[in-house]
Amino acid sequence: MKPKEYLKNLKPYVPGKTKEEIMRKYNLKRIIKLSSNENPWGASEKIKDKILEEIKNIHQYPEPINPILMEELSKFLDVEKKNIIVGGDGADEILDVIFKTFVDKDDEVIIPIPTFTQYRVLANIYGAKIKFGCYRYENNFELDVDSVLSNLTNKTKVIFLCSPNNPTGNIIKNRDIKKIVEEAENSLVVIDHAYIEYSKKEYDWTKKIYEYDNILILRTFSKVFGLAGMRVGYGVADERIINEMLKVKPVFSLTRLSQVAAIEALRDKEFFNFSVREGIKVREYLYKELKKLKNINAYPSQANYILVELKNHTSDYVCEELLKRGIIVRDCSSFDGLNNRYIRVSIGKKEEIDEFLKELKNILEGDINGM
Ligand SMILES: Cc1ncc(COP(=O)(O)O)c(C=O)c1O
Repeated sequence: MKPKEYLKNLKPYVPGKTKEEIMRKYNLKRIIKLSSNENPWGASEKIKDKILEEIKNIHQYPEPINPILMEELSKFLDVEKKNIIVGGDGADEILDVIFKTFVDKDDEVIIPIPTFTQYRVLANIYGAKIKFGCYRYENNFELDVDSVLSNLTNKTKVIFLCSPNNPTGNIIKNRDIKKIVEEAENSLVVIDHAYIEYSKKEYDWTKKIYEYDNILILRTFSKVFGLAGMRVGYGVADERIINEMLKVKPVFSLTRLSQVAAIEALRDKEFFNFSVREGIKVREYLYKELKKLKNINAYPSQANYILVELKNHTSDYVCEELLKRGIIVRDCSSFDGLNNRYIRVSIGKKEEIDEFLKELKNILEGDINGM
């Protein structure tokens, strides 16, 4: 049996080493994981009881659209239920459904880079032609609007704007998004807000769905709500977009356990507010301390991670040295548009960040290796 011709050159996803593998390899007693932009304080404590309660029902299919979850999300976002679609493999599933619904083979998509890799991966899987735009390195990765608009054709189906952008941490200015959304009126503009809770309110485009019918706001429970392991994400858009996507979305992808977890996460305002407040506090502390170190450049961030440029070392060397000391950060050399001089550090608890800063300083002040 042969796969589709254009899938021939795809490579399977290679996951990072597990915590256990790393602990065995380097003979470590503890690991500090600052590589996946998760919530270092976990998830709401209240979720556990609700999951245990729901276990008695797991022999029965979940509701395809859970009305309580829709009600809570609608309140949280201040948008109507008919404008929301919830996915069961996180925001990744919503991205997949976007491709399934709107992108034919050989259609074009525009992806400014460096950015979240999944847009490119899915474009390849669905046989779309990718036009790359760019976030400008020399200007704190501000979006180069012309690099997007100059690629716009009548074949452009989707434009991916990530704000705050992963891995660079910057937001896209409102006037820049507006310009693109208005000029690309026949394309869907996906505004990926996976980290928007860590940004200033004025950059949140969620409610702009009532002004523009060609935008989809992508959001997730994996970050500030601490539910990366439950796989819940959602999209917010004009009702017509949502209805088309609902025809395509896997019907039962959101499990009973994920549904109750998401509902409880939305109800526990205290944990949510704590996560936002502490997350921003630690990010600003990390930024301030990184700025004091020589031979690196830390970029300002509106998300829960910081991109660091290494002046005298390569990213694989620094990542490996940190691993030996039990600290995992993200080597950014695999991001399109970045070279082997960048690492991304997620927020952690204050003591974890202090440990990371101490070890990074030791590595940077050691011999100039790995060049
Ligand atoms: C920018 C961005 N969008 C979407 C996602 C997907 O999130 P999930 O599938 O866990 O909801 C991520 C995950 O890291 C991300 O960084």
